[in-house]
Amino acid sequence: MTAEYKVHGTVAVISLNNPPVNGLGLTTRQGITDGLEKANADAAVKAIVITGAGKAFSGGADIKEFGSPKALQEPNLLSVITAVENSAKPVVAAIHSVAMGGGLELSLGCHYRIAAPGASIALPEVKLGLIPGAGGTQRLPRALGVEVALNMIVSGEPVKSEMLAQIPGQKLFDKMAASPESLAEEAVAFANEVATKHADGSALPLVRNLPCKHPLGDAYFQFARNMVGGMSKNYPAPLKCVEAVEAATKKKFADGMLFEREIFINLMWTPECRALRHLFVAERACSKIPDVPEDTPKRDIKSLAVIGAGTMGGGITMNFLNAGIPVKMLEMKQEALDRGVATIRKNYEAQVKKGKLKQDKYEQRMSLLTTTLNYADLKDADMVIEAVFEEMGVKEAVFKQLDAVMKPGAILASNTSTLDVDKIAAFTSRPQDVIGTHFFSPANVMKLLEVVRGAKTGKDVLATVMAIGKKIKKTSVVSGVCDGFIGNRMIEQYSRQAGFLLDEGCTPAQVDKAIEKFGFAMGPFRMGDLAGNDIGWAIRKRRASERADMKYSKTADLLCELGRFGQKTGAGWYDYQAGKRDAIPSQLVVDMIDKYRKDSGFTTRKISDEEIVQRLVYSLVNEAARILEEGIASKASDIDMVYLTGYGFPIYRGGPMHYVDQVGLFNVVQSMKRFAQNPRDDAAFWQPAPLLAKLAAEGKTFT
Ligand code: NAI
Repeated sequence: MTAEYKVHGTVAVISLNNPPVNGLGLTTRQGITDGLEKANADAAVKAIVITGAGKAFSGGADIKEFGSPKALQEPNLLSVITAVENSAKPVVAAIHSVAMGGGLELSLGCHYRIAAPGASIALPEVKLGLIPGAGGTQRLPRALGVEVALNMIVSGEPVKSEMLAQIPGQKLFDKMAASPESLAEEAVAFANEVATKHADGSALPLVRNLPCKHPLGDAYFQFARNMVGGMSKNYPAPLKCVEAVEAATKKKFADGMLFEREIFINLMWTPECRALRHLFVAERACSKIPDVPEDTPKRDIKSLAVIGAGTMGGGITMNFLNAGIPVKMLEMKQEALDRGVATIRKNYEAQVKKGKLKQDKYEQRMSLLTTTLNYADLKDADMVIEAVFEEMGVKEAVFKQLDAVMKPGAILASNTSTLDVDKIAAFTSRPQDVIGTHFFSPANVMKLLEVVRGAKTGKDVLATVMAIGKKIKKTSVVSGVCDGFIGNRMIEQYSRQAGFLLDEGCTPAQVDKAIEKFGFAMGPFRMGDLAGNDIGWAIRKRRASERADMKYSKTADLLCELGRFGQKTGAGWYDYQAGKRDAIPSQLVVDMIDKYRKDSGFTTRKISDEEIVQRLVYSLVNEAARILEEGIASKASDIDMVYLTGYGFPIYRGGPMHYVDQVGLFNVVQSMKRFAQNPRDDAAFWQPAPLLAKLAAEGKTFT
């Protein structure tokens, strides 16, 4: 049983005990109803307290039951809440730390609520593409007023208990405890008090009986719909929150409950909800590495060294300063150090100006930063991250010096984006301590961190770096060693395909628009202009010999030959006006592409937006299937996390793998066979990866 039952004098206390957050799984729910029955049957008990053991009152639904029949098995949460409401003896919720989702809904079924200050109160279901499904939309407006409740339900954001307690006329908390520590005792005393009050048999108060109205009525809800609709374009749930709360003001309670239920169940099957639930699970799954148990011992990382104070070195450094970890940056020349430090200052100052960072925090962070030109000064750092030029010779020199000076047990990480981490490890006498940490630019902003596991990387090193990733608030995904790791290896095929689309008749703007309409933050050509087209150009030149048999559109090279590197040169696939970032379609580029097609003898045709999207997304997925098969990624959901957090794949589509699972892999393979007939694509490009072909044939999915 994951709820404990104890009697203190005349008060029975039911403590939810399902770590980490007292999720309302089946056995916990049973524990509550059993406790209620026992308490009601015991003549010595006059009142009941429901509270949570450990770190939460309750975080809501048990994620382990997500999507399983157990979630609905009786007693389901609705039945539990009904049992609470029907208890003949008063039930008091004693809320502390966290009361979210189903946890808050459970408390709203109780006759009384006492809360400790500092508790986070929320109905976060909207973040999973849902609305609260156990009366939250009907009871919270009655307890807190329509406006506050709707704000909480639509945003899903937590609000502190003491703030809610200050709302005039609120009925959410009947009493505030003095502190979290005194809550248990105060709750029992309060339960005794209400037991005395109702000793005469007077009716117990129920939130469902409270009135629910907004003074502006329809006008208010019209306003709410306009606001919410405008902000939640691709997501159906927020507007449904408005509908459900409006129903609370218009329908009888029981009818409102049915209405809420119907919306909840319908939302459950929307693609957006599936995608968001997938994301929720995928996010938690990426820290789980099949052969590295969670209790793997970790090394202590109390200080960091960063080699190279350029674009990436500076951004990486900021992550650690933000987390309170001191950083020593090393460069070859003082000017480079000064420039790097100045950029970090400039970034922080911009945050201070915008009010996002307090002056004293800024100073505190800067005080953690030191610089040096001398490797010997790094020797005591627990970890070092190298972010120097992307050349094997330079990396070799750096890692040999690190090997010579760093203390034993220090973690040696490289931020290389394309080079072989195993080769880098081999420059040292301690390959077990070497790992790749592939940050994305701007490194202080982007969520994604690809953690590149070398053939000899120690399990404790991997576990430590994953933990550090969490500490600096990154989404860390493990990748094996290969050219481009997970994300860039896939994007190479996507970019090739984007080039073929130009060859076959599309304009850059058409391709970008189609994929942006699908939901990508930026199409491939706008992205190229932002990142700098010269980067890909340099990589292609370097790899020319390795990729001799691979077809490419030459358009990107021709563009670079014109010096059109993108925003930084004021021109790329698009034209740019000085100081502005708006991409203006360029006639010169269209003519350049056209000439190339004619010179090459390509025939062109009109290509639909649908085909553009399919070709781009399936290019990603086909390469991803190989990545999975080779064990570079250990699960499909990791690949989704890479694309959702690092490449602007639309969140509401759940990532490329989840998306094609919904399309149906059989359909994907059929489309690929069709694309193989395209004049510019070679059949090899669309040869389904063996894993994709196998799953499609077996009617299975990636995830
Ligand atoms: P950058 O050119 O902005 O900075 C490199 C810095 O390293 C320069 O300040 C240079 O003075 C310094 N440096 C070079 N050799 C050195 C040495 N031997 N010792 C000490 N310092 C040295 O380059 P960026 O863009 O910061 O890239 C650094 C690394 O990060 C590269 O491996 C790159 O592939 C990788 N990377 C870059 C991304 C990007 O978007 N720029 C994204 C992800 C990874």
